[in-house]
Amino acid sequence: MARADLLVNLVKYAIAGNRTMVKKVAEAIVAEERAKQHIVLADRLENAMFHQTSIDNNADNNGIGYTNKSLLDSRAENLFIEIQPKKKISDLILSSDVVSMIEQLVTEHFRVDLLRSYGLEPRNKILLIGPPGNGKTSLAEAIAEALMIPLYVVKYEGLVGAYLGETASRLKKLIDYVSTRNCIVFFDEFETLGKERGDTYETGEIKRVVSSLLLQIDNLPSHVIVIGATNHPELLDRAVWRRFQIKITLPIPTRNNIIVWLEKFQHVHKIRFEYAPETIAKKLLGINYAELEEFGFSILRQYVLSLPDSNIKNIVGTELKIRTMNMKESES
Ligand SMILES: Nc1ncnc2c1ncn2[C@@H]1O[C@H](COP(=O)(O)OP(=O)(O)O)[C@@H](O)[C@H]1O
Ligand SMILES: [Mg+2]
Repeated sequence: MARADLLVNLVKYAIAGNRTMVKKVAEAIVAEERAKQHIVLADRLENAMFHQTSIDNNADNNGIGYTNKSLLDSRAENLFIEIQPKKKISDLILSSDVVSMIEQLVTEHFRVDLLRSYGLEPRNKILLIGPPGNGKTSLAEAIAEALMIPLYVVKYEGLVGAYLGETASRLKKLIDYVSTRNCIVFFDEFETLGKERGDTYETGEIKRVVSSLLLQIDNLPSHVIVIGATNHPELLDRAVWRRFQIKITLPIPTRNNIIVWLEKFQHVHKIRFEYAPETIAKKLLGINYAELEEFGFSILRQYVLSLPDSNIKNIVGTELKIRTMNMKESES
């Protein structure tokens, strides 16, 4: 059974003739049934929605209905990659502020019934900001894991078409597809889409598509969580910036973060580096988590390959020398 308040709303909006809201409530019901693994019912409801809106579209093509049913099956292809989340929040080193923001978000989605009974909706628009290799993609995955929902990573090359109107219609397919699912839609390098729309080299079509994307993101039901990631927040225009209800910055690791990471790594892989984590952290300060991971695994590989009489101290020493040399080079 769908939630009582959704059914009541459905009837209310249907009688009032408010089609936009009927569609929204119906999408929420489909998402809920799908989440409960009532796949047959969810598909039938979805088909009923598509069938009706394609009839409507033939009668009056107002552009707010669904795309044709024949597109239903093919529309998932090429527009995004579906990731079954494995990474956990606890796998990442995050500030306590970030952890509590994520916990709040997760609670809002788990306790949506309570929120709704007070006329409130959970937040669903998140922007992750920070230089590459510090956990934007990983955090999106970890949020999906915590909420036990799939992560759809949008593929721009599949979305942006060569012909006029193509991009807009693919975008619509994407939005239609995700609207009836409880999921996360991840827009990496969001600045490529959401940057100042005053750019001179941008054609009229791209601008229109971006405006329409932003509008559609605004209108997504709250069971669809939109996560944007960017390394260039300064390129986002204010209107775009304002749309995100939660903004999280993921900086490069501090010395203390590196120490924690090193201790965790050694514990997990049952290895001792024979160097004080403080010493390593001091030398590596300035690198990102991705590079830190490379450092750790490089040592681990060499250690394993030189068993049984591996000299871990030498391996770590050499790795440190290489890394610090690279860092000096990239600084100059
Ligand atoms: N905060 C973090 N704590 C631990 N590991 C991290 C963290 N951030 C990133 N990593 C590791 O670094 C790698 C790259 O992270 P990723 O999420 O792809 O960064 P981004 O999307 O910001 O470029 C991942 O394999 C991840 O495990
Ligand atoms: Mg990334």
